[in-house]
Amino acid sequence: SPEEADARIEAAKRTLGNRLVILGHHYQRDGIIKHADYRGDSYKLAKDANLCPDAEFIVFCGVHFMAESADILTPDHQHVILPNMAAGCSMADMASLFQVRNCWKQIEEVLGANGPRVVPVTYINSAANLKAFVGERGGTVCTSTNAPTAVKWALEQGEKVLFFPDQHLGRNTGVKLGYDPDKDMIVWDPFQPYGGNSPERIREATFILWKGHCSVHKRFTVEQIEEARQTHPGVTVLVHPECPLEVVEAADLNGSTEYIIKQVEASPPGSVWAIGTEINLVSRLANENPDKTIFCLDPQVCPCSTMYRIHPSFLAWTLENLVAGNVVNEVIVPPKVKYFAKMALDRMLTVCA
Ligand code: 13P
Ligand code: SF4
Repeated sequence: SPEEADARIEAAKRTLGNRLVILGHHYQRDGIIKHADYRGDSYKLAKDANLCPDAEFIVFCGVHFMAESADILTPDHQHVILPNMAAGCSMADMASLFQVRNCWKQIEEVLGANGPRVVPVTYINSAANLKAFVGERGGTVCTSTNAPTAVKWALEQGEKVLFFPDQHLGRNTGVKLGYDPDKDMIVWDPFQPYGGNSPERIREATFILWKGHCSVHKRFTVEQIEEARQTHPGVTVLVHPECPLEVVEAADLNGSTEYIIKQVEASPPGSVWAIGTEINLVSRLANENPDKTIFCLDPQVCPCSTMYRIHPSFLAWTLENLVAGNVVNEVIVPPKVKYFAKMALDRMLTVCA
């Protein structure tokens, strides 16, 4: 039962004391969030991992790439643990090192040895070996909080950006920086030669956007926004930048999960919000702000199925193993990958500080 899992988690937390810190991403269910010492978006949690230098165990309630980033950014004596190893991210899985290397080779072939410089930028929602790929080639990581700053920086280092794996965040960011989505951007389909593009278009484009997406944020539509405006006059529509461009353009505001929370919390009582992001976050916002009307743009429920895999019973099991001296589900990034991936993450933290 939920009460039993809570009691087991609390007891293990008490025993482990300062040796343990629990991080929770905003998309985690309430039953997990209530046990988290820190909650945040991907950017905040990447920074917060470093806030607990004394903790021996960092239990990351989020998805695999977040735990990898925490492992990369923390000293080796700290163990980073993911309560369920099956908690991945379908978007991160849309780009593999093999595919990105292949893409890079084809771009180099088209642009030539003395051609324009391409700077790789990876969304933090990617495997550690892709962050290493980027770090090794002078690129950077970005999150939904800092994508415009990171991409602007990348375009100061070179003429073009290869952005992966989320085409929507890449496109939305390019548009925010004043680029034309039709003229200046191409989409790279890893399953087609040259990503499905002509050599001319590869030479012309400033943005090469990987054909990846988030299955949760892809569900939001302009029709849902129109419907919300009709049923709730005066509503403010706030969406995550992983949504398609037309949805971001039809909304009033867009930003990371942390931004979404801050905007809603800062609004006066009586405010009406239609939110385009994961349902656990939207429901929690609605519960924590009973003086405001807050609803999800998608009338069907839209959970992130992999975030949901962190169940309280997994957290209880993980912590009880730690109490017993068994370090289970540790996420360990190999040293060579770590070295270059850290370069890319540190670059983000410096450029976007
Ligand atoms: P942020 O929390 O950084 O906005 O990211 C959302 C997300 O999809 C995490 O996987
Ligand atoms: Fe990945 Fe989307 Fe889930 Fe975030 S919400 S973890 S991007 S599938």
